[in-house]
Formats: sequence, C-alpha cells, structure tokens
Amino acid sequence: MAIDFDTIVNLSKKRGFVFQSSEIYGGLRSAYDYGPLGVALLRNVKAEWWRAMVQMRDDVVGIDSAILQASDVWVASGHVASFTDPLVECTSCNSRFRLDKLDDSEQCPTCGNRGTFTEPRQFNLMFQTHMGPVASEENVVYLRPETAQGIFINFENVRRTARLKLPFGIAQIGKAFRNEITPGQFVFRTREFEQMELEFFCHPDDAEEWFGYWLDERQRWYLDLGMSPDKLRLRRHDADELAHYAADTYDVEYEFPWGWDELEGIANRTDFDLKAHAERSGKDLRYYDQDADDRFFPYVIEPSGGATRTTFALLIDAYTTEEVGGEERVVLKLDKRLAPIKAAVLPLSKKPDLVEVTQKVADSLKPLWDVEVDVTQSIGRRYRRQDEIGTPYCVTIDFDSLEDQQVTVRDRDTMAQDRIAIDKVVEYLRDRL
Ligand code: GAP
Repeated sequence: MAIDFDTIVNLSKKRGFVFQSSEIYGGLRSAYDYGPLGVALLRNVKAEWWRAMVQMRDDVVGIDSAILQASDVWVASGHVASFTDPLVECTSCNSRFRLDKLDDSEQCPTCGNRGTFTEPRQFNLMFQTHMGPVASEENVVYLRPETAQGIFINFENVRRTARLKLPFGIAQIGKAFRNEITPGQFVFRTREFEQMELEFFCHPDDAEEWFGYWLDERQRWYLDLGMSPDKLRLRRHDADELAHYAADTYDVEYEFPWGWDELEGIANRTDFDLKAHAERSGKDLRYYDQDADDRFFPYVIEPSGGATRTTFALLIDAYTTEEVGGEERVVLKLDKRLAPIKAAVLPLSKKPDLVEVTQKVADSLKPLWDVEVDVTQSIGRRYRRQDEIGTPYCVTIDFDSLEDQQVTVRDRDTMAQDRIAIDKVVEYLRDRL
C-alpha cells in the first residue's frame, strides 16, 4: 500500500518518534531529535546492523572513532578538494539549489522564472570549525562527513591489535555531518545524521567477487528485517555520478513516497584511501602477506548505509491500514526485533488491585524488554495506540486475573488473544520475541 509522506511525518510527531530540532525556537532546519519511541527504534536498527555485520561474523571487527580528526585526513581523502555539490542561485528570488537535483536546470522551482540561475559553483559540504580558543587557518577542523575515514586511518592499529588477516572488515556506526544544499524530505536528507559503514579489505584480485557478495548480503539484510521486496532494488551509478574515490557503485534504493531513492551505497573504493593516507602521512599502510611474501595496498568494498534514513524507510514500510469491524485500524507492522516497545501491560481499570498486578507483571518483563504500562483511556483506544506504534504484544490484566492469576495476551498482527498464567508470560513472550 502506498503511504503518503505527510501521514508518516504526522505519525512521527504525534507519537514521539521524531521532533524538529530546536522546535521551541522556531526549529532548526534539517536537524531532528529522536523522541522516546524514535530513539528506541533507531537503536534497534543499529543493533540489528551491528549484529549482522560484526557480532555474527568472524571476519569483521568494530571501532568507534572520533568525529574530529586531523584536517590532513580530509585533504588526503580528497574531501577538501572534491566533496562538493554544484550550487546555483536564482538571481530573481535568491533561492539556492543543487543543480544535479533539479528537474529542469533552467527553471527556478521557487519563483518559476527561467534563465535566472547563476553559473554553478562547487560548494564544499563539510562543516568547518576551529580547534582551540583562537580561530585561524592553522587550526581548522572538520566535522566528519563520513565515518569511513576514521576506519582507514586506524587500518594498521586495528589490523595489528586484532591480529587480522585479509580478507577482513572494520565496521563503525556514528554521526556524520554535511552542509547539504537541499536538505529535505523529513529525516531523509539532513545536515546531521548517522551512518552505518563497513570497510571490507581484500586482495585486489578478489575485489570483484567481494563486491558481488556485499551487494547480495546487504539486500538480504533489509529483506530479513521485513522490508517489502517490491520496494527494494539495486541501481548502478553512471560514470558521471561516481564519488571521487569509487571505481564502481551500486545504490540500494527504496521506493519512498516521492519515488525511488538511495538507502545505501555499496562502492568499490579500490586502494584509493589507504594509498592516499600512506602518501600524506608517510606511514606504510600496505598489507604484508607472509605466505606469498607480498606487500600491497588492499582494495576496499564499502557498504555504507544511513541509520537515520533506514529507520525512516522502515517506518514507512511498516505503516499499514486495515478495516476491522467497519473501522480503520492503523498498524505499524515493524519486525518484532525493531519494535520500540515489545509489550504493553494494560489493566482493564485503574482500580488499585489491578494496577498492582499490572506493575508486578511489567516488572517481570522489564529486565528483558522495553515495556510500557498504560492505565489511561478505554482498552480499545489503548490497543489502537499500541498498534500504531508497532507494539507486538499487549498484556491485559482484568478482574478475573485477580482470581485465576491469568492474563490475556493480544497479538498485534492477528489480534488473536491467548489466556496465559501470569507466571508463564515471560516464557510465552520469549518464545515469540
Ligand atoms: N562513505 C561513503 C559514503 O558516505 P554516501 O553515499 O555519501 O557514501 C552513505 O552516504 C549513506 O549515508 C547514504 O546511502 C545515506 O543512507 C546516508 N546519508 C548520506 N547523506 C545523508 C544525509 N544528508 N542525510 C541522511 N542520510 C545520509
């Protein structure tokens, strides 16, 4: 089912997934805050990525590098010279655009005038600041525009200390910053966002094979988390779209409400980065293959996804409406691993003895899962709220529970209800979550 953009933005705000940054001051454009449900969903997405990409593999380790790095890093990586987008400005209304994102490169989308654009100028997307109390040319530092470079500059540290042999990968999840010319579509393109990146190092002769492997593997990850197969596709970059470091790139694309757009880029970065850092730092970053007595720069295959963008796509994909008893039911059919709240515990009334049992049941679940207790409103409304935020199970305590020590567990998707002994609820949920 196609869901419109406003519906998902409204749900995000209404239910506390995502808020505009600095809202009480009128809002800071293109930065967002994640609310109680949003932070749980985002953390679950990152945890699933880490589980699949690091924890479950023998050939990948993780790091967490600093956001601030020596400016030499960005000179060597080519970002100071080449991490730019073509910027044009309309001389009639002063609106600014990214030239390569315009449908019509002659017409201003804001005022409709034709032929009013300035000549394109290359605009560098890196945020700059200064390290220390005095702002000068010498102490310029950049907020990292990708987490990848933190991995390349630690290649030798990690290889040596983790005693790794090719092929192996180094993974990182963290914030990245880009002064995008045209941020937009809610959290899809923002100026502060989170990336989930793997740099997979291999022998140059094996790079093509690993490239194919990661193209398959990364699509599988999205599908395994329940994303609709017909809304996911691979698209190869044309030669003129390739980043300055890439020999070949495919995007994993998702069909967003505004059309197909990038979810993740999978690039063959060749030996571009290690070579560049070796040259600028003067350190030998070649890999020594003892068996072959050969020293060479490994090639790198890089699956690079956005945590915040993926979270948004998963929200969109999970949004479902259906008719139940003549009424519309909105259900967020998130994979259970991703659901922000795994179980809601709901007393049928606010009577103290029911609330007491409710708290006891909730306390037994809390060490294992994110649980919410909700004592307000009618039970029907509370079920609807939990459906709308994707809670897989509702545990209801009713008056009979006081007598028979049993509760009702309702399944989000089927709405089927099971009567379970209170001391069996943990086991029941453990089998299903
Ligand atoms: N290290 C490679 C790299 O950064 P990229 O294609 O520029 O490649 C990778 O970015 C991913 O990061 C994108 O596929 C997207 O998911 C996410 N991303 C990039 N820019 C973003 C932005 N302005 N807002 C949100 N996510 C962004």
